[in-house]
Amino acid sequence: MSPLPVTSKVPYGGDYNPEQWPEEVWKQDHLLFDAARIDTLTLGVFTWARTQPAPDVYDFTTLDRIVERAAAEGRQVCLATGTGALPPWLAKAHPEVNRTDFEGRRHRYGQRHNACPSSPVFRRLSTELARRIARRYAGNPAVIAWHVGNEYGGACYCDLCAAAFRDWLRDRYSTLDELNACWNTTFWSHTFTDWNEIEPPSALTEHWRGPDHTAFQGITLDYLRFMSDAMLANFRDEKRAIRESDPHTPVTTNFMGMYRPIDYHRWAPDLDFASWDNYPPDDTSQARMALTHSLMRGLKDGQPFWLMEQTPSYTASRDVNPLKRPGLMRLWSWQAVAHGADAVLFFQMRASRGACEKYHGAVIGHGGRSDTRVFREVAEFGAELERLGGITLGARTPARIALLFDWDSWWTLEISDGPSRLVRYQQVVLAYHRALWDAGADVDVLPVTADLSRYDVVVAPALHMVKGDLAERLEQVASRGGSVVTTFLSGRVDEDDNAFLMDVPGPLGPLMGIRVDEWDARGPESVNPVQLDNGPTVDARLLFELVVPQGADVVGTYREDFYAGTPAVTRNVFGAGYGWYVAAGLDQAGVSWVVRQVLDWHNLSGPYADVPDLETAVRVARDGTHLLFVLNHNAEPVEVVARAGGVDLLTGARVYIGQVIRLDARGVMVLRQ
Ligand code: GLA
Ligand code: ZN
Repeated sequence: MSPLPVTSKVPYGGDYNPEQWPEEVWKQDHLLFDAARIDTLTLGVFTWARTQPAPDVYDFTTLDRIVERAAAEGRQVCLATGTGALPPWLAKAHPEVNRTDFEGRRHRYGQRHNACPSSPVFRRLSTELARRIARRYAGNPAVIAWHVGNEYGGACYCDLCAAAFRDWLRDRYSTLDELNACWNTTFWSHTFTDWNEIEPPSALTEHWRGPDHTAFQGITLDYLRFMSDAMLANFRDEKRAIRESDPHTPVTTNFMGMYRPIDYHRWAPDLDFASWDNYPPDDTSQARMALTHSLMRGLKDGQPFWLMEQTPSYTASRDVNPLKRPGLMRLWSWQAVAHGADAVLFFQMRASRGACEKYHGAVIGHGGRSDTRVFREVAEFGAELERLGGITLGARTPARIALLFDWDSWWTLEISDGPSRLVRYQQVVLAYHRALWDAGADVDVLPVTADLSRYDVVVAPALHMVKGDLAERLEQVASRGGSVVTTFLSGRVDEDDNAFLMDVPGPLGPLMGIRVDEWDARGPESVNPVQLDNGPTVDARLLFELVVPQGADVVGTYREDFYAGTPAVTRNVFGAGYGWYVAAGLDQAGVSWVVRQVLDWHNLSGPYADVPDLETAVRVARDGTHLLFVLNHNAEPVEVVARAGGVDLLTGARVYIGQVIRLDARGVMVLRQ
């Protein structure tokens, strides 16, 4: 059994909600799908009210017709369990299925993605719906994947969740003594003497000035972990119900990339394959998208993922919703494939007529036309994918660089009081990734538990929490000649968010060959220049750690304040390799300079590292063929001397090393090498 749906080419299509229109429209839709080479439809995502109109009534008439029609038209189906939005009768009959928010308000019926994950009624009925849908459509050859729920997320603070939290804590700590020790409850007289005294950390309890600021990080951290696990239990309920009648068809749910509330690493083993919805905040997020694709690819050890949703044109949920410029949808779709997507799907096939997504982009607009620019680009890209065939399916990324991404570090860094609320985990990770991306390096984005033995370079920005044997495994990377890069606010806390009773950076100290005795946090207007050794002077902001070398060489020094002349960047020889420590919030130029030193040492930059916004990524096909994706993110054409040859699978043209090649504005080449 393949963990990914078995297809002969990259599945193309996306969310389709024909239950919103009369059947005459469906006919037109399928003609247009043919015209755009759309072969895959995600069906039934929000159909609970239709399939279960009353507590004891299940009615599959509509879904049957939709699935039958799709199958008859030769489409592949990604079939949803339909539990992403509650039917009104359910919320009315059982108010406890509605969430209680951070402020303690019990919600009433409305919206979506908002069931209490601990509600027994929700769990029973969502599982039953998944069970019935699976029983009904399992074995239908059109169904190639199951799509459980939709975009799990958010949090609930109700009494049912409080009780479930206490159970989760009993499992984790066994005894109150252990819990009290791990939460350091002697602080502020918090020693718990009964499990029932423990409250979810909300605006009514441990938090003030919003969800990020908590008096007891241990409690807040465990609630984040618990909530992620509670929703994972919902996913598992449904997956188990599907498996009762369908033992094989791969099951997924659509993730949201760098989404803080859910620890996708803890979820990943339960998914057969990962999938995610790509809605970048703007049209200058190329590097961020690359990072997120790689994060999704890293969820299952490099296994390809599905791009489950993207808009062909615009979203509707932001204050301002810019239109994707001509060529952008294609470029970003290829970018997804370059980083490991084995499907390219849209939200949505036809635009909703009413409600909050009526202005959301779709392959087919309200007018039902095929002679629009958006439809034309969708159709052209569909034809291109068809020409590509199956070569990229299952292809892997041969990266020698690992970037560590850790939800626990994200959470603990940001729920902490001090040193600075302005330091944001994602911003730090994005800066280090950006430097790697600019250098055209192939990067795997991995959990801290991943096997690091195949990497030459490990970059661990803001590795706030150091768990288990991570420090030893990082030392091993350096010992055998690799380089490990980490930054300020790393090595600060253990698994329970308690400080290490040793010098900062805790267990990373020996590898980094330094000690941090003090740190200074300033507002963004305050700059301390950092002079890099044989390099530029760059700006540092927000956080400035005061480093005392314990064997490390100084690579950059502060220029101002009472710590002028002391180290801001260090490099320590460790075994045959190095530990790099960046003690301050360097600007992008500074981060990029450090990262380039490391990449140059290992000779790991990509072929066009000197050409701005010309991205490259490698995938190795199942037959061993190397595919080099070259993506021009510039709105102008780019001419370069080819440093890699091969046959461009999109045009058939042969590229020779040394030849001048031209990529159109937002152009793409897929070179078979
Ligand atoms: C998410 C959801 C979809 C839709 C899109 C709109 O990704 O899964 O149902 O709401 O956003 O961008
Ligand atoms: Zn709840």
